[in-house]
Amino acid sequence: MKYSIADESLADTGKMRVDWADRQMPVLATLRERLGKERPLEGQTIVACCHVTTETAILARTLQAAGAESVVCASNPLSTQDDVAASIVKHFDIPVFAARGVDTDAYYAQIHAALDVGPTITIDDGADLTNVIHSDRTELLENMIGGTEETTTGCIRLRAMAADGALKFPIIAVNDAKSKQLFDNRYGTGQSTVDAIMRSTNILLAGKAVVVCGYGWCARGVSMRARGLGAHVIITEVDPLRALEAAMDGYQVMPIAKAAEVGGIFVTVTGDINVIRKEHFELMRDGAILANSGHFNVELDIPGLEELSTSRRAVRPNVEEFTLRDGRRLLLLGEGRLVNLVAAEGHPAAVMDMSFANQTLACVHLARNGNDLEPKVYDVPEEIDAEVARLKLRSMDIEIDALTQEQEKYLSSYDMGT
Ligand code: ADE
Repeated sequence: MKYSIADESLADTGKMRVDWADRQMPVLATLRERLGKERPLEGQTIVACCHVTTETAILARTLQAAGAESVVCASNPLSTQDDVAASIVKHFDIPVFAARGVDTDAYYAQIHAALDVGPTITIDDGADLTNVIHSDRTELLENMIGGTEETTTGCIRLRAMAADGALKFPIIAVNDAKSKQLFDNRYGTGQSTVDAIMRSTNILLAGKAVVVCGYGWCARGVSMRARGLGAHVIITEVDPLRALEAAMDGYQVMPIAKAAEVGGIFVTVTGDINVIRKEHFELMRDGAILANSGHFNVELDIPGLEELSTSRRAVRPNVEEFTLRDGRRLLLLGEGRLVNLVAAEGHPAAVMDMSFANQTLACVHLARNGNDLEPKVYDVPEEIDAEVARLKLRSMDIEIDALTQEQEKYLSSYDMGT
């Protein structure tokens, strides 16, 4: 078996952590049992380009139990947990191509090495794998049934490819499933982003002005959790509806050019480029903290920050201090990469349980129906979304009501009860 990881000796430590995550992933356990009997992924080779975390280990294992040849590579050069990568190889016999801290060339070399297995299905987190197949590895297209996409940024890119007629196989937008977005994006990003800021800086959030750029699901979660710890949260937005929602949710809303003057901590969560730029860094207070929780490290204009600075130095793990010409110091967390995975452990397993259950069932859907699908971006089928929510509720011992016959009739009629 070919693989490429940083340190095999870390495998047993990784296994303890993978087992810990497993305890919080009952939906995937149920799927492993069910699909382990049905083996719907038999004959499929699935390359999962994901953050290599304990939760991804459980996903890879679930795909394997369902019959797939499962292969893992990293979706970000800084988010790989090396002990987990080693454990996936040693304990589950699944090839991994990932090591924390590799440079861009090595990162893409690992994606290419994973693709050498010749996937029939891909799982992407940020669309790097799909991009590489469409640009450099077009010989693989012939065998591809379809792919899935885990994150908002990836879905935006893939929809742009589809609109341009450039997409060559169907993609299921797992990110957009309700049982993913409402929980992983909101509660997962919310908790893990605040966790990362606290782990890396150990600052008190109570009384701090936290500027959150964006008010999508992820940003809503970050705002909610920062407010819960006593921060004064300010939202910046470009979308009038989202801005209005933020205002009515009780946050202060203002342009970044104003927020830059008053913020103590800045978190970008927009999926867009250069959200905080040179002109904003120029306005910030000494000691302002800069973090990004969007998929790519482009939301903070780091080259601009470098140009403004006379020196930079590491002051704590995952904290770099940039000194500007007038002596003000700005603190950048996790190199501006997604802070929740670089400086913490990513979303907790309990929400990844639902996201990765959607991924697993989307792969089964592709294996069964992929050959009949057009090269477009599809929503997760509603039955899958509802099934994931049902399984999660069951694992939480929560029962819900069912419609009576009369209620069902009422909901589909227009002449009853008026
Ligand atoms: N994305 C965000 N959190 C994650 C996690 N814990 N595992 C894999 N991908 C993630």
